[in-house]
Amino acid sequence: MSEPYYITTAISYPNGRPHIGHAYEAIAADTIARFQRSMGRDVRFQTGTDEHGLKMAQAARARDIKPRALADEMSSYFKEMCDTLNISYDRFIRTSDADHHAASQAIWQAMEANGDLYLDRYEGWYSVRDEAFYDEKELTEGEGGQKLSPQGTPVEWTKEESWFFRLSRYQEPLLQLYRDQPDFIRPETRRNEIVSFVSGGLSDLSVSRTSFDWGVPVPGSPGHVMYVWVDALTNYLTGIGYPDRDAALAKYWPANLHLIGKDIVRFHTVYWPAFLMSAKVPLPRQVFGHGFLLNRGEKMSKSVGNVVDPMMMAERYGVDQLRYFLLREVSFGQDGSYSHEAIVNRANAELANSFGNLAQRTLSMIFKNLDGELPTLDRTEEDAALVRSVAAACLDETPRAFEQLAFSTGIEAWMKAVFACNQYVDAQAPWALRKTDPERMKTVLGTLFSVIRDLAIAILPVIPESAGKLLDQMGVAAEARDFAAIESQIWYDELRTSGYRVAQPVPLFPRLELETADT
Ligand code: MSP
Repeated sequence: MSEPYYITTAISYPNGRPHIGHAYEAIAADTIARFQRSMGRDVRFQTGTDEHGLKMAQAARARDIKPRALADEMSSYFKEMCDTLNISYDRFIRTSDADHHAASQAIWQAMEANGDLYLDRYEGWYSVRDEAFYDEKELTEGEGGQKLSPQGTPVEWTKEESWFFRLSRYQEPLLQLYRDQPDFIRPETRRNEIVSFVSGGLSDLSVSRTSFDWGVPVPGSPGHVMYVWVDALTNYLTGIGYPDRDAALAKYWPANLHLIGKDIVRFHTVYWPAFLMSAKVPLPRQVFGHGFLLNRGEKMSKSVGNVVDPMMMAERYGVDQLRYFLLREVSFGQDGSYSHEAIVNRANAELANSFGNLAQRTLSMIFKNLDGELPTLDRTEEDAALVRSVAAACLDETPRAFEQLAFSTGIEAWMKAVFACNQYVDAQAPWALRKTDPERMKTVLGTLFSVIRDLAIAILPVIPESAGKLLDQMGVAAEARDFAAIESQIWYDELRTSGYRVAQPVPLFPRLELETADT
């Protein structure tokens, strides 16, 4: 029985079309999901859209349509983005789904049964953009005296009857959680911020609204809908069958990883564990708050007009080029910058010139010089050294880094192995050996074929389509593409004797050009 692994992304507000920041999170989560499958785990992966709340209601009003119509339209773009980017989700959840309403009401009732909900009046500051309540002491003043949240978004004074969650009760249990499970919040800087926020004391949280009705109805309290974050966070349980504890829930909960952006760490590491403690549901193992993707160092915003469309990027540069670039360029956890030059340079230098060229040269020499037949090998120490160093990267350095979500470190180790292979090609010069020592040429080409397979399997979680196509061309069976397969000692001889022949290879990565308008 393989070990279960449950990973989720944040669910996005479908109040507009997805931007590159949403794509970034989906790509990172997908790479982890694919990586964990490749490690032999039984992965469950969930993403989706967060459709309730005032922000959605206001966005719909501005277009003079119903919130549900807005959600239906925009959610479909998020799903389309995921499908285009090869995001291998098991469920694309929409919080307007019927089972999600049932799960949200069930967690509400569980919190109520624990004595954590009471009716009172809310008076305080609310940011519609963040869908968040703030204390007076957290606010700053912007232009014209406008009060601003710590995220820089405008807040409004709000007064209404509301249900409250006794968050104040959970200060000590939360601090205990951060002590007992030091990896609960990553990276470290975000953990420190949260520990200091919670140490400063927690006020009870307003968890229902009466001034609009676009939300999950509060059970037994007509006129109240749940605060959008109560239902949004519950999506992680809905997707695995909550409140039915016999279903997938037993297998996949507690989640291994909630992957989210740094702006919503508080909701996931303060409110969510408190709700779960109250509802007597075990806590997730880890919340990772990744950094923001910036456009040439600047925050993307609709008003500045510098929002990058991931569909356009994927079409223009290729899905795998985009996936590779985002994970290679940015040190995961920190903010990172995007520019056309950077993606073109990275994809050309590393994917086209280094990895693509290595595969293309090797397969085409086998095709031309050996009639596509894999040779028997008579390896020297030099060949064996290359095989060992590639295996060390593919079986040790790269997966160890991926396990820690250190994508750029893992890819760098992989790239070093690619360079080592290219140096080996140059040093061995198989094209010259063709005349001087054809037997030696065979061993060199066969050795290259075997290390290229290892490299392709190791990078499959990052660039699934192109590495997959390469493995197809190499005759590697779909079920022999995981990390365990890299360790196999007999695959090469099995393939060699199976009658497989290398065909004329198809290039994997076309060279990208920078358009003058982009510079
Ligand atoms: N709906 C909430 C999340 C609820 S989770 C129970 C929300 N939605 S969002 O659409 O604003 O953001 C979705 C995810 O995208 C969040 O994790 C957010 O941090 C991330 N990003 C939004 N802009 C981003 C960048 N510019 N760069 C990287 N990630 C960004 O918050």
